[in-house]
Order: sequence, then structure tokens, then C-alpha cells
Amino acid sequence: MTKKTVLLISCLVFLFCGCSKTNKNTVVFEVGGAPNEISFWEEIIKDFQQQSGIKVEIIRQPTDTDQRRQGLVVALKSNKNNPDVFLMDVAWISQFAASGWLENLDNYLKADKVDTGIFFKNVINLSDKYNNNTIALPVYVDGGMLYYRKDLLNKYGFNNAPVTWDQLIEYSLKIQKQERKTNPGFYGFVWQGAQYEGLICSFIEFAGSNGGIIIKDNQIKINTPANIKTLGMLCDLIHIQKISPPNIFTEMKEEEVRTFFQQGDALFERNWPYAWSLHQNDDSAVKGKVGLASVPHFAGNKSASTLGGWHIGISKFSDAKDLSWEFVKFTVSYETQKKLAMKLGWNPGRKDIYKDREIKQKFPHFSYLGNIFENLTPRPNLPYYTQISEIMQKHINSALSGKTNPETALKEAELEINNSIKRYLK
Ligand code: GLC
Repeated sequence: MTKKTVLLISCLVFLFCGCSKTNKNTVVFEVGGAPNEISFWEEIIKDFQQQSGIKVEIIRQPTDTDQRRQGLVVALKSNKNNPDVFLMDVAWISQFAASGWLENLDNYLKADKVDTGIFFKNVINLSDKYNNNTIALPVYVDGGMLYYRKDLLNKYGFNNAPVTWDQLIEYSLKIQKQERKTNPGFYGFVWQGAQYEGLICSFIEFAGSNGGIIIKDNQIKINTPANIKTLGMLCDLIHIQKISPPNIFTEMKEEEVRTFFQQGDALFERNWPYAWSLHQNDDSAVKGKVGLASVPHFAGNKSASTLGGWHIGISKFSDAKDLSWEFVKFTVSYETQKKLAMKLGWNPGRKDIYKDREIKQKFPHFSYLGNIFENLTPRPNLPYYTQISEIMQKHINSALSGKTNPETALKEAELEINNSIKRYLK
């Protein structure tokens, strides 16, 4: 659709329908994230407005995925025409689709000849399709990574990043002991263990590195020997080896983990790719000292990385769907996706950006990430996933805190999940 047609349609809609939004040439976009993400979107919106003549109002959300979901659910459940367009965590797209809140994008894609083959195939197939309809598009992809202090590994005679969990524990114990002589708050390994969605991402990854799974033949299978062993190892990191700090299970989410590591207080960090460029900021204590590797695995197994990321979709209740599509198209355009990478160091949903000369020069680690993005471990793609996750969060976190043991925690989680999903399967 041309710019002129879009403008004409918006004017007509404005004249004839009267609506709760003040200006029918306006799209309301709801988005959250770390402060640098919001500033990025403000810039993108400015460019879009200039190029298209379509106004975008932004509703700012917090960083935490659970809070972002709740904010959107309130509006969508009451069929509000505002927001028109929003970012969704890959973890809750199918819940939104099953609730009938997302517009099918296939006609738009077809009309504008947007080929979905430009995106990571696995990501789009696992996350953006519902009943064979395309209901979202990937703006950026996340996969869990291990960040490590190159300088400290060298200082203590370790030449490479740890490949197994045993190595991670060994390196941490040795280096933590020495570093504490000058920095008493130093720890071996920080990761997301607070009671929220990020804990399940960590758990799926760590359990996956032990051959553990949480769903099989559409049945939730959490109470397995591989998963119990994984949870036992995580508890030991905090309470036995004490290489992970005690606030892992009370408050460690992405940003807490990132700042802990960035202040120079940890040897290893599990986080998403977004942390990379922040670690290279001038005010970062670890600038130039960080390496990136796959999350370790149990001996005899292989590494796993959880599929994360954020996708853009249009509300079924929007009264500015055509205008919203123009904005969606802009967010997944080569230009915007390249900016997302150049400015934030994030990983675009489009594969072609990974081959861009400038990108390859600025971020040599991108080619490595591009390869692992086709093989990420998804969370169960179920409309009631949020309920499953909340139950898992409660029990796993309780084991991490020492209130219960791994066997009981996973047994109770599985029981409670199976009881709770019965009502969805009726
Ligand atoms: C990141 C991921 C998202 C995940 C969340 C958990 O934002 O992109 O998929 O659910 O972290 O905290």
C-alpha cells in the first residue's frame, strides 16, 4: 500500500467512525524493556513518522516480561482498541493467539510481498504461527549464553571457557577464593533464579544440558531424574559450593545479573545477548574483558539454549490495522533491524542482517549466534503455558531457597500442573 493510500484511508476512517483515539492517523504502540530499549523505539518512531506521515504514540512498559504481559492482557481482555500494536514475549504469543487477540498478518504479508523466509525458520514456525496463520513477526531473537571474564581465566591459567558444569564449578571455586582477597563480594556464577519467567528459561536450558525436557507428547514431564539432578546442582551452587550468591533466588532477574557481572563481581554470567554491548560501555568495569560461550553442559551431554525473544503483532480490536501494519513492516525492515543490532547489539529476527558487512565487522560474535539461533530450545508452545510456568516458578524457586528439596519440588510441580491443565484439555 502506498503512503498516499494509507493517509487517505486514515482520513476516511477518522471522518466516518469517530473513536476513542484522538487522531485516526495515530497508531498506539505498547512496548517495554531496559531504558536503552525505550530510547531506541523513540528514535525508530521518529524515523517512521517522518517517512510515512503516520503518528505513533508510545505506551511505555516495565522491563519484566510478566508485568508486560499483564499490562497488555488488561486492555485486550476488555477488547480495547488501544494499543493497536505491541511487542510480545515469545513465551506468551500462543496464549494471545488462542484468546483471539491477534490479527492474522497473512493477507498483509501477501499484499506487500513480504517473504517470511527472511526470518529464522525455526523461530517463525515455533512462535509466530497459530492454526497455520501468521499472527506475529520476530523483531529480535534471544538465546541464553555464558559470559565469562577472559582476563581472570587467563590470570589463573585457564585457557578456555568451561564446557561442562564440573569445569565451571572448578574454575569458580579456585578464582573466587583468590579474588575474594581483594573483593570480598566476588562470586563465581550469576544467573536468573528469582521467581519469574526468567527462572524457567534458565531451568529449561540447564536441564536441557542434561538431556532433561519438560514436555513430551503434549504431556508435561518435569519430574524426571535428569531434571531432579539439574535442580540439585543449582541448589548446590548456592548452598554447598556457594559460588552463586544467596540473592539468586530472591531477586536475580536479567538486569540484576547483568549489573552484578558488569561491576566486576562475578566470573561467569548467564544472560541473553543484549548484555554484550552494555558490558562494552565506557562505564563498565568489564569493558574489553568479556568472552562469550555456550552455556555449559553435563558430562556426556550437549549445551542447550532457551529460545527467547520479542515479536510484534497487531491487536484484533485495533481500529487502525492498516496503519499498524505499516509500522510492523517498518520494524522488520532491513533498515530498522540493522539499527537494532548496531545501536543495541541485539539479535534481529531477520537472517540477512547477520551477513551484513558492517555488522560482521562490529560484532564478530554474530555469526556464531546466527548459527545457534536455528537450534534453540523452545518453551512449551501452549495457550496455557503461563499457568504451567507460574507453577514451575513457585516450586523450583522454593527448592532453590532450601524450603523444599528437588525431588519434592518437581513431584509437586508436575502434579499441580497436570491438575491445573485438565480444565484446558476438556
Ligand atoms: C527475555 C527473553 C524472553 C524471556 C524473558 C524472561 O526477555 O527474550 O523470551 O521470557 O527474557 O525473563
